[in-house]
Amino acid sequence: MKARIFLIGFMGSGKSTLGLKLASLIGYQFIDMDHFIEETAEMSVPEIFNEHGEEVFRKWEYDILHELCNKENLVIATGGGAPCHSQLMDFMNANGTTIYIYLPPEALTDRLIHSRTERPLIKGKSESELLDFITTLLETREKFYRQAEFIVNGINLRSAELAKILKES
Ligand code: S3P
Repeated sequence: MKARIFLIGFMGSGKSTLGLKLASLIGYQFIDMDHFIEETAEMSVPEIFNEHGEEVFRKWEYDILHELCNKENLVIATGGGAPCHSQLMDFMNANGTTIYIYLPPEALTDRLIHSRTERPLIKGKSESELLDFITTLLETREKFYRQAEFIVNGINLRSAELAKILKES
């Protein structure tokens, strides 16, 4: 098994929940990139977007991914936008195993409708605006996400299934 497992996918695809369980199944340390950035910056993601702007947040994502790649035995839940910036998809593919957790826009909308305030990109959107936003953004992001080594269906996905994929790879 490679030294780093990157879970990638849209907001709400289950990267953090599955990543935590997967890490304990395979005996790796779990890192949630958003939390890591929040702890380092001592600010929440919405505060970072508000006070510094998205570009600075993307730069911090870049720096942290590079820093994490000096460490081993990690399961990393990446932020939904990280693979789509600064060639980070190539970087992750070169430094570990990438797994894209795919969910269709409707399922993502159902999951995200209750967590709009924690996520600056979808804050204040109505349900139909959210569905439109997700449909459009997912379309532009899929060309990055689909460069992952493994693509798995996120509906009813269990961490044991991810562990099996990794053990057989
Ligand atoms: C973002 C996803 C969020 C977080 C930030 C931006 C994105 O992470 O990094 O709000 O651009 O899709 P999650 O995918 O963990 O929600």
